[in-house]
Amino acid sequence: MKRLLSGIKPTGELTLGNYLGAIKQFVDMQNDYESFIFVANLHAITVYNDKEELKKRTRDLVAIYLASGLDPKKTTIFLQSENNYHNNLGWVLECNSYIGELNRMTQFKDKSKNKSANAITCGLYTYPTLMAADIILYDADVVPVGIDQKQHVELTRNIAERFNNRYGETFKIPEPFIPKTGEKIYDLQNPTKKMSKTEDNPKGCITLLEDPDKAVKKIMGAVTDSDNQIKYDLQNKPGISNLMTIYSALSNKTIAEVETEFKDSNYGTFKKAVAEEVKQFLIDLQSKYQKIIDSNMVDTVLDEGIKKARTIAQAKLNEVYEKVGLSR
Ligand code: TYM
Repeated sequence: MKRLLSGIKPTGELTLGNYLGAIKQFVDMQNDYESFIFVANLHAITVYNDKEELKKRTRDLVAIYLASGLDPKKTTIFLQSENNYHNNLGWVLECNSYIGELNRMTQFKDKSKNKSANAITCGLYTYPTLMAADIILYDADVVPVGIDQKQHVELTRNIAERFNNRYGETFKIPEPFIPKTGEKIYDLQNPTKKMSKTEDNPKGCITLLEDPDKAVKKIMGAVTDSDNQIKYDLQNKPGISNLMTIYSALSNKTIAEVETEFKDSNYGTFKKAVAEEVKQFLIDLQSKYQKIIDSNMVDTVLDEGIKKARTIAQAKLNEVYEKVGLSR
């Protein structure tokens, strides 16, 4: 069975974008792959987080993974900070990567734009090398991510290939898996920008644990064009196309089916249907989340997951240290 690996940072509130671009894929794919899904909490501290909030978001993320349908029998779920081999390999990879390639990472460029050099952590800069370690430590074949993370998986491939050429065949070269529907969910108020958990405009973003009625209002108030036709055209009709993507992904209908279903409807009717779909999705997810967070399931799952993750990672790290000359 091929191996799948991915993770999410527990910073900010999780959004519908995280769900459709990432979590939904993890759930859909877990039957076909040996899956490893982790909480990327080491990545979270590339920017400052309040300690209690970080811990809460860490637990919430695991509960959301489970509430969304990740099955611990099929998917190993673990906490990155509990597996030191990630840091160990991260350092080796950092020493086998170049400033030139990190300078080309568009996410770093975006996040550091207009900030003084004294306000950007070194961790934010080198984090793609830790992400590469997360992936190749497990010989992952496939890495499901939204489109914004594709460049980091491509960097991972380059680093792994370079390492293999220099030290001999060691790592599998992973493939990114980008969903056809949901690769990038856009902000509801500014539909050319990614829906983001750190976005300043809360009206543009639906978070997974928010009041479903508030989410309804946000969908009803989403920015659209004025031609009143439900047609998918990301270039010219980004707002309505974004809502179509959301509806299509949540209802498991294709975009063509959505177009047919609403060909005689106006934007008001269509928005109501999207809002209802989102509301039902949130109610369902949140009721499962609540049961999980009130139980001891998060700890049980993490305790189990870390054992398997460590065993695999340790064997790979020993091999790497041996090849690099870091053993006696
Ligand atoms: P993060 O935490 O920013 O995002 C987690 C996942 O959610 C996807 N995503 C979106 N997809 C569609 N539309 C959106 N608006 C949207 N916003 C976020 C992201 O593409 C991602 O798949 N570096 C990673 C975490 C990470 C990781 C890894 C991922 C660390 N190590 C190893 C895969 C493999 C990150 O910051 O994702």
